[in-house]
Amino acid sequence: MNDWEENPDAYMRNDNGDFILKKDGTPRKKTGRPKGSTGRGYNYHSKTKAQIDARKVVRKKEKRLAQARTKLENYKRSLDTSKNTLNKIEGTEAKAEGKITTTKVDDLPKALRTVAEENVIFRPNEGPQTDFLAASETDVLYGGAAGGGKSYAMLVDPLRFAHRGAHRALILRRSMPELRELIDKSRELYPKAFPGCKYKEVEKLWNFPSGAKIEFGFLERDADVYRYQGQAYSWIGFDEITHQATEFSWNYLASRLRTTDPEIIPYMRCTANPGGVGAHWVKKRYIDPSPPNESFKGSDGLSRKFIPARLDDNPYLANDGRYEQMLKALPPTQRRQLLEGDWEVAEGAAFTEFDRNIHIIDPFEIPIHWDRIKGIDYGYASESACVWGAIDRDDNTLIIYRELYRKGLLATDLAQLIAEMELNDPMSVPGVLDTACWNRTGQTGPTVGETLVKAGHKLRRADKNRVAGKIQIHEYLKVQQSGRPKLQIFNTCPNLIRELQSIPLDKSNPEDVDTHAPDHAYDALRYLIMSRPRIDDTFTRMRQLHRETIYQPSDGTFGY
Ligand SMILES: Nc1ncnc2c1ncn2[C@@H]1O[C@H](COP(=O)(O)OP(=O)(O)OP(=O)(O)O)[C@@H](O)[C@H]1O
Ligand SMILES: [Mg+2]
Repeated sequence: MNDWEENPDAYMRNDNGDFILKKDGTPRKKTGRPKGSTGRGYNYHSKTKAQIDARKVVRKKEKRLAQARTKLENYKRSLDTSKNTLNKIEGTEAKAEGKITTTKVDDLPKALRTVAEENVIFRPNEGPQTDFLAASETDVLYGGAAGGGKSYAMLVDPLRFAHRGAHRALILRRSMPELRELIDKSRELYPKAFPGCKYKEVEKLWNFPSGAKIEFGFLERDADVYRYQGQAYSWIGFDEITHQATEFSWNYLASRLRTTDPEIIPYMRCTANPGGVGAHWVKKRYIDPSPPNESFKGSDGLSRKFIPARLDDNPYLANDGRYEQMLKALPPTQRRQLLEGDWEVAEGAAFTEFDRNIHIIDPFEIPIHWDRIKGIDYGYASESACVWGAIDRDDNTLIIYRELYRKGLLATDLAQLIAEMELNDPMSVPGVLDTACWNRTGQTGPTVGETLVKAGHKLRRADKNRVAGKIQIHEYLKVQQSGRPKLQIFNTCPNLIRELQSIPLDKSNPEDVDTHAPDHAYDALRYLIMSRPRIDDTFTRMRQLHRETIYQPSDGTFGY
């Protein structure tokens, strides 16, 4: 007799119908299915088993196929997104619809969005950044608050035509270190947008697979533009255009804007924060003529637009809040310029007390007996400036009654021009001239000073103390008890008036004006005032005129 027949309670049947021993009445733990068993307690026919196995394989393969289909769908979608982005960058979509549409990424389910996002190289921030990249005007300024995403857009914009072999773009800033930041960003962005593009550090030049080129350059001085002489560009962008003191470089480079490819539309693009040495001309050119975001025709015939930027427009910085906090801590004027993008606040003007109603007057006939004096600042590539003043005998007010402001003058031309302009003065007007004009270093012929003196002008060396000179101008602008300032300017002197109104303070030395701003008429006035013009009684004056000899190099004294 079998053991299970003797102790039936200690045994149970397993799936195969075998008796297995229960321990303490508890069935033994099953140790897995015996080989070949279906787990259903009976053996299948080998044909059925093969059927079951085959079905399993089919199910597994069907599952894999479904997974592959979803994956394919995802890839298709992300390919669409990438194509969309590429179109945007190339501007094809912008051209077709006049406006860049936003990508479809936001419409995708969350899981797919992550996949798609990874394939997006660049997506413009909604609002001004998008408008800037889609603008069809030839010349556009994207300007305003700091951190709005202006420079980033400046890097992306020239990519519009990077698929065309004839495309030549030039991105400019004032100095090399400032340019570095842009170059570094381009190295992150360009290879992703156009795989295969190569950067050459020495030339600061990107070469694209199509043959297109994007070059980086800096313009520290006006003369730096001559590096681009004879070149042609289909896209020129100035990042921080207000760092250019005058419109000279913009005008020069605009003449280089052309292309041989009819598919490429040539563009000029600028970005800026309000303020800075060139704020005056930038505001006049882009902001004053028309409301923001409205296209207009400039006096040069170019279609133009100003697109204002705000920090909130750039979620990459705005969301952080720290950047905004930093801007809020700035002094009021800079805060309004950099946080609010306000172009109207006095752009760090050095002479805030200058008032058109008080300091500018209609011309009148200068009485013949009033003393006259002139100040000259010489320049060839930049302007030569000369301002003539007469001293009102009643209250010593200095009246600036004439100005000369012209570039490209040789010393002989200047001597001639001044002589011609003085024909109406009772006698040759004595004056002071920039000390550099007496400097012999590296010069073979006569100095500018010598040439002017030889032509009959009575000139002395100017006192060039910049800080003292600025203080004196403040002193002269101050309104006296009589209600009249010590300095008044004929409204026929627009250059001197403009410089006094707009010349900014030097950011690193508020005791002085920013020497990058146009300051030739200002310098001429400063020299004039520093010569301490005053009225003497006629007798002293006559004696002085006798004593007052032409400047001799050994004479180091200033003033009367
Ligand atoms: N569309 C975008 N996609 C991704 N990042 C962006 C985008 N726009 C801006 N950024 C990020 O925001 C940062 C600040 O933008 P950017 O330097 O262009 O601002 P800005 O307006 O030129 O500032 P500033 O006035 O200080 O020169 C950039 O470095 C970049 O990382
Ligand atoms: Mg910038």
